[in-house]
Amino acid sequence: MTRYWPRFNRAGFEESVAPIDYLEWYIPRLEELRAHNLSFSGMQYNWNVLDLLGDTIADIAKPYMGDVDDPKEIIAAREGVNIENVLITNGATQGINIALLTAIAKIRNKSNGKITVAVESPTYAPIPQSALILADDVIRVNRYPPKDYGHWRINYEEWSAALKKSDILMITPISNPSGWFFHKDDLAWIIDQAKISNVTIIADEAYNDAYREIDDYCSIHSVAPNSISINSLTKVYAMGHIRFGWIVSDSETIAIARRIFMTFSGVMSSPAMRIGTKVLQQSSIVDEAIADYRSKNLPKLRSVFAKHGIVWNEPLSGVFGCFELPNGIHSELFADHYCKVNDLLVVPGTMFSDSMQNWVRVAWSIDPKSFELAVDALDRSLELALNQKQVNKSK
Ligand SMILES: Cc1ncc(COP(=O)(O)O)c(C=O)c1O
Repeated sequence: MTRYWPRFNRAGFEESVAPIDYLEWYIPRLEELRAHNLSFSGMQYNWNVLDLLGDTIADIAKPYMGDVDDPKEIIAAREGVNIENVLITNGATQGINIALLTAIAKIRNKSNGKITVAVESPTYAPIPQSALILADDVIRVNRYPPKDYGHWRINYEEWSAALKKSDILMITPISNPSGWFFHKDDLAWIIDQAKISNVTIIADEAYNDAYREIDDYCSIHSVAPNSISINSLTKVYAMGHIRFGWIVSDSETIAIARRIFMTFSGVMSSPAMRIGTKVLQQSSIVDEAIADYRSKNLPKLRSVFAKHGIVWNEPLSGVFGCFELPNGIHSELFADHYCKVNDLLVVPGTMFSDSMQNWVRVAWSIDPKSFELAVDALDRSLELALNQKQVNKSK
């Protein structure tokens, strides 16, 4: 059987590099162009680049130095830091690599030649798999679903044992696929333990910007002293294709990160800097669209789950969440059979963890008209899957 979840060890790839397995499932399904799509964890907003850039579009491939407003200033103002605390990267995924390389560079001499990274699960595969390439050992630490409603929680004994052995901890505060932020007690405990064990925290905050209004919201760089926060325009601001992201940390750490960025990438591309800066200047347009999509789409989703008796642990903000299929239905069977016959794409939990085989991620990141049709398709898919299972059970 093909496995799609993130890898935390090099088994089978000791002298090689493991694939990012989930893309082998997801890309062919995207290429099928199913009529209905609840698979996008990122907001789908159709920016008009002509409107954004106006006449300056003619300069898109020209050098941008001194020519565009400094996007670091916008990010620094949003994050309450100075521009020396910000580095622009080619998306959050490059931010993960740069942050990891920076953290490793700072501790290499202190770690007896061996770097151990604890990584949270469920997760986005490039997080643990970058650590498998760049560091020595990777330890998996889990976040667990609640019985019905609320935060996904951590086990302090499990995390404490891992942190004692680790140099770096990689977390995704707004977890993909649950859409839940850390419980405030868990986050406080993690920051405390990381301090005690001298562990650098790297936080992939790709989804954070949609959660700024919730209670207990924070960006990790602002609350944990030895930490690096990563973010981008991909998920919340619907501008992933230009590859524009950033990392935030103390100024010495960012100075090292900048040298690493220059070593591997030189400078950012002119189109990414020009478009990214304009998007940052107008980001409130998407903030409003998210609020609109949430208010129009979520009631429809809730009523489908209620109709089928499915526990729906709705996250406090954002545009995606996940649910457990009843009767032990496998999520890949659900996506590839029951949803496919209804021309619907959803994301199986197996893309995020081997412990999520019966879970499905759905998103309300598309315009309300398309969402209404997609959620009807979800309703039909659940009807079919649950009835089929009843028939099988009664045989
Ligand atoms: C947690 C997380 N970080 C980062 C990304 C990708 O971000 P970017 O396109 O900025 O590299 C994803 C995409 O699925 C993600 O889930």
